[in-house]
Amino acid sequence: MYDLKGKSIIVTGGGSGMGREAALLAAKAGALITIADIGIPGGEETVGLIGQTGGIAQFIRTNIAVEAEVEAMVEAAVRAYGRLDGAFNNAAIPQSSAILHELTAETFRRALDINVTGTFFCMKHEIAAMLKTGGGSIVNTSSAAGVTAFPAAAEYVTSKHAVIGLTKAGALDYGTRGIRVNAILPGATLTPMLVGAMANAPGLEQYLIDQQPIGRLAAPPEIATAAVWLLSDHASFITGAAIPVDGGYTAK
Ligand SMILES: NC(=O)c1ccc[n+]([C@@H]2O[C@H](COP(=O)([O-])OP(=O)(O)OC[C@H]3O[C@@H](n4cnc5c(N)ncnc54)[C@H](O)[C@@H]3O)[C@@H](O)[C@H]2O)c1
Repeated sequence: MYDLKGKSIIVTGGGSGMGREAALLAAKAGALITIADIGIPGGEETVGLIGQTGGIAQFIRTNIAVEAEVEAMVEAAVRAYGRLDGAFNNAAIPQSSAILHELTAETFRRALDINVTGTFFCMKHEIAAMLKTGGGSIVNTSSAAGVTAFPAAAEYVTSKHAVIGLTKAGALDYGTRGIRVNAILPGATLTPMLVGAMANAPGLEQYLIDQQPIGRLAAPPEIATAAVWLLSDHASFITGAAIPVDGGYTAK
């Protein structure tokens, strides 16, 4: 479907959910994958799954909130494959489910440290590597919560709005230097993150389905395909965009 032959691509949060699906799809399109995740078993499992389909991947255990680890992640991609052409900056933590005045400073700061500063660290070091070889494509995962608010999710909503800001800022700074930067805004998607939240909240699944103009939740490959398309040269004139992939949720 997409041609990513020989392109070196990093996927953060590639040990689970939509990151894993995007890594599998990109590898199938010929990309050389670096999976970065804080969780070792998930990251190694994704590498194994890619290997089973004849793809090439390595796992670098990375906490995106630690700049030195992000720098090492990018160095490992360049060392293994000679360059960096693309990155799906997708790792994040979910909402805590506290309403705003009950949120602790620690919970708020942690969400921003991982979801925002972590994405910034990734962009910073990926862009530096891409500039050395003439450009690349970055896709950040925001959320429908990047343009609307969800209840009891102030820290998550804030972080996902900020990811869109980072995306637009990066697109402006590097538009003429061959680097495209875009964000996808997934709606409710059946990944371990959401399945975990639904397990703790009876009625949440039906509530979410009722909110969806399309009448159902997303499957992870439906999100991955948008990310991989943006990583590919098929999306060559798209930069600075925040693209909903949400079954019409934000159209309401
Ligand atoms: N599932 C949904 O309904 C939904 C909707 C909108 C947006 N999103 C966003 O999609 C992205 C992927 O989420 P998912 O649903 O696939 O979740 P997931 O929990 O299945 O995957 C997230 C991955 O990120 C990793 N991770 C967490 N913190 C990390 C850190 N500090 N450093 C490195 N890796 C870290 C986790 O280990 C996990 O493997 C996230 O940015 C999430 O906010 C999800």
